[in-house]
Amino acid sequence: MTESQRPQYDFDTILERHGSTSVKWHEVVEQMGPGAKDVVPLSVADMEFKPAPEIVAALVESATHDVFGYDYATEDYFDALVSWMKRRHNFDVDPAWVSLSDGVMPAINTALRSVTRPGDKVIIQRPVYYPFTSAAERNGLTILDNELKLTDEGRYEIDFDDLEAKAADPRCTAMILCNPHNPVGRVWTPEELKRIGDICIKRRVRLLCDEIHADFEYPGHKVTMFSTLGPEYADIVFEFTAPTKTFNLAGLLCSNAIIPNPHLKRRYDVAADNIGGLTVSHFGLVACQAAYNHAEPWLDALQQVIARNLGVVRDFAARTDGIRLIEPEGTYLAWLDCRGLGFATPEDLCTFLRTKARVWFDEGTMFGESGSFFERVNLACPTCLLERVLNNIETALNERG
Ligand SMILES: Cc1ncc(COP(=O)(O)O)c(C=O)c1O
Repeated sequence: MTESQRPQYDFDTILERHGSTSVKWHEVVEQMGPGAKDVVPLSVADMEFKPAPEIVAALVESATHDVFGYDYATEDYFDALVSWMKRRHNFDVDPAWVSLSDGVMPAINTALRSVTRPGDKVIIQRPVYYPFTSAAERNGLTILDNELKLTDEGRYEIDFDDLEAKAADPRCTAMILCNPHNPVGRVWTPEELKRIGDICIKRRVRLLCDEIHADFEYPGHKVTMFSTLGPEYADIVFEFTAPTKTFNLAGLLCSNAIIPNPHLKRRYDVAADNIGGLTVSHFGLVACQAAYNHAEPWLDALQQVIARNLGVVRDFAARTDGIRLIEPEGTYLAWLDCRGLGFATPEDLCTFLRTKARVWFDEGTMFGESGSFFERVNLACPTCLLERVLNNIETALNERG
């Protein structure tokens, strides 16, 4: 497609989301009061963009003509998913491997219940998406933190000796891996993934691989879907993906658990039945099928906006003493190391950003102790909104002296 044939999408308009059902905009006013309407939340990982028009058209068509009884996912949905995984990830998915649910986190909770017993131990890699912790705790599991190591060059790496030792614990039965990693932005290489897989195979640890950010990678990096490493790796893994993250449809509730091993798949489905069954909504299926089939150009255009926004944050960090960007390889999140700003506590940093700079990021401590004095910035917003936020921070830092 040439430049002139490419559809035009609006990634520039700042949407008014006060008074909408948006959790993050609501949270700001709820916690800081009605005077905080100027505080911009670049926190929760959804986007400040309207969905692709191709998806909206499919929803309108369905709303106009369909009947909303009990639904099942048709062959057309699975065809769309299979084709997407092949096109974007060179991943040959057999529809028989797929169980649908209303979200990746319900699916991860279900998978945990299917392969662990209360009292077992589960490995996670902090700083990491905080619901992994609550999922483990809710299911009576003890967390083993294979903490990621930040090198002097600003890259997070896996401590494989520590991982090996933790996986050797006889009560360790599962690991939750995030690829690409939220919040540190690593896209794990095939070599790293194989090393993780080899340890899990040797120690009989089941791998829950959260690939919800898999459609977001920066040039020079390629997300590897875990099962594509080979049959012995596919045999131990639960893979979780969701078009809702890729296409900003989180409120429509639709995600895929891909489980190639039939024995694990059966256990997962039984665990889902035991809590009354996981399901997806009619509009979730309609929207996600349309997204996979028709909204790829929107995603490609969005990636350019996110790359541009990352450049804006990179420039900001380069000219701001005390702030360092941890260069992401994937996701639409940026992880800022603010340890050099010299705040006494993470709470002081948070208060400064919210009250003086009028911005609400996700605080690093939410992702674990090792996230202290880091901030997670959501890049999926109009560039002018991001620039406004960063200008506010610069002004507030100058006033602080
Ligand atoms: C790594 C990761 N997993 C899961 C989720 C939540 O997925 P869902 O809304 O499908 O439960 C998110 C949302 O931000 C995420 O970043």
